[in-house]
Amino acid sequence: MKVAYNYLPMQFSDVDKIIADWKKLVRSTEFTLGPFVERFEKEFAEFIGCKHVISTNTGTDALILALKAIGVGPGDEVISVPITFFATIGAIVAVGARPVFVDIDDRYQMDIDHIQKAITRRTKAILPVHWGGASPAMPAIMKLAAKFGLKVVEDACMAPGGDIRGKHPGTFGHANAWSMHPLKPLNVMGDGGMVSTNDNGLADWMRMYRNHGMIDRDHNSIWGVNMRLQPLQAIVASHVLKTVPKTVAIRNKNMQILDKGLKKLAGLVIVPSRPEGYRETFSLYMARFKKRDALMQYLIKHGIEAKIHYPVPLHLQKAAKGLGYKQGDFPVAEKYAKEIMTLPAHQYISTDQIDYTLKAIKAFYMQG
Ligand SMILES: Cc1ncc(COP(=O)(O)O)c(C=O)c1O
Repeated sequence: MKVAYNYLPMQFSDVDKIIADWKKLVRSTEFTLGPFVERFEKEFAEFIGCKHVISTNTGTDALILALKAIGVGPGDEVISVPITFFATIGAIVAVGARPVFVDIDDRYQMDIDHIQKAITRRTKAILPVHWGGASPAMPAIMKLAAKFGLKVVEDACMAPGGDIRGKHPGTFGHANAWSMHPLKPLNVMGDGGMVSTNDNGLADWMRMYRNHGMIDRDHNSIWGVNMRLQPLQAIVASHVLKTVPKTVAIRNKNMQILDKGLKKLAGLVIVPSRPEGYRETFSLYMARFKKRDALMQYLIKHGIEAKIHYPVPLHLQKAAKGLGYKQGDFPVAEKYAKEIMTLPAHQYISTDQIDYTLKAIKAFYMQG
């Protein structure tokens, strides 16, 4: 049996409705921003319960735009985590600031107990990540940020469809970034991203900056860049957005079966806790496994496309050399990087495929 990680061939097997809208776009020739982009921004703002959504061409640009909007620049420090995708930290460096890492907790999220120690007089912002589609303790992070006069940018790239006690991830921070990369719960046929904010002033600035700082065709008020979302992708996003609640619901059902099966392997597999009131999106279904590398090879040999997100924490990457970190600085992140594995758990996986995955894991451990 094959258990594929990639769900895109299934997800985009029927694209007639998307193509019908693309034809409307072609007839309208509204190829930069325009009504399809505006429609999607409104739909997404409504979906997450936020005042403004400013779409961008990537999630990385969304992070850069959000950081710039809240005034992060050279000389500033931004607190984030060493277990995330490169883009989170790359965006901090791209705006000229210095990333400061704090360790993660047993749910692979920013450990709030470490934040206060990392705050210096240069700290401008906290950048928590909704890693894997689970969420850090956003209410506590906001409280801490308010106490120290810091801004918060959420990396909510993996979080569309999540929930934190009735509030959507990406609506807590001052300006929050989203990605529509193909392997995100809200995805397009290429790249896309957005920033969400409830702040009118930040929203106006971001709309302007992502479009050359233009007020109109002949005037600009600031020096901006082009970070615009393609209308072709805005159309895809509008269609996919309608499917997000169902996608997340199915992934949550898959999680329950996987969690239950893996918990039977206590001592060999550690499943993260699932706190009450938090709905995860399972952009990544992750757990920690004894003999992870050998198990992963075994699973791949048996057709199960397991992955690692990621084997090297960011403070130990070559790119982080100048930041002055060393092995041992973030023991939890370093330990988990050696143990963590992602199993296919997407919306097109069948119960049989989940059973097959669980049986294969058990068989691996049984062989000693
Ligand atoms: C946590 C996280 N942040 C940022 C990004 C960057 O998004 P993009 O690829 O759209 O630039 C990604 C994914 O690609 C991500 O997983």
